[in-house]
Amino acid sequence: MTEKAAAPLVVGIAGASGAALGVRVLEACRELAVPTHLVASRAAALTLAEETGLDLAELSAKATVVHRPGDIGAPIASGSFPTRGMLIAPCSVRTMSEIATGVTASLMTRAADVTLKERRPLVLMVRETPLHLGHLRTMTALAEMGAVIAPPIPAFYARPASVAELIDQSVGRALDLFGLSWERVRRWGRDLGPIAAGDEG
Ligand SMILES: Cc1cc2nc3c(=O)[nH]c(=O)nc-3n(C[C@H](O)[C@H](O)[C@H](O)COP(=O)(O)O)c2cc1C
Repeated sequence: MTEKAAAPLVVGIAGASGAALGVRVLEACRELAVPTHLVASRAAALTLAEETGLDLAELSAKATVVHRPGDIGAPIASGSFPTRGMLIAPCSVRTMSEIATGVTASLMTRAADVTLKERRPLVLMVRETPLHLGHLRTMTALAEMGAVIAPPIPAFYARPASVAELIDQSVGRALDLFGLSWERVRRWGRDLGPIAAGDEG
């Protein structure tokens, strides 16, 4: 196995709504045999409990390695530790803004900063609405630095029949950005759209 193939995905879960996105990222990576290094913020523990009923121990069991949010000595705080990149799902405005400033006070934002400086993919599933000009400017700054802003906006063309399907589509499309193809993604021209319809008929 090459070093890239064996390298873990760093998964951040911040305290924005949508904790289930992070849970599904960890579960998808397990299905794809991709190791994960998890860091969840303190606020994420709140949203996780509120929205999914899971506690941090149950979340942690889904990751390969778990880091405390204040552990700035963790391997993922250094660029010398090889990773595939970092996905923050969901990403709060607070965490997004901290990454954009470079004043990275937690392991989550330090790991994101390292991901950017090493020119590895950093994907932020920022969840807030509506967005004010400051949010939009921060997103622009991050895009200019090389981050991918990937809000978990539903893909209605995939005709999700449930919230679970909607989440899986968003998670799978975010994993696509790391070259990870998860079978649960419904793809235009394969599962959906004119080619798929033609195949059926
Ligand atoms: C139930 C709940 C839902 C929240 N939803 C959002 C959200 O969608 N987006 C956001 O930016 N912050 C949201 N917040 C606020 C963040 O949790 C708060 O700004 C926190 O300081 C973020 O910290 P973190 O970035 O370290 O996770 C929510 C808070 C709670 C309790």
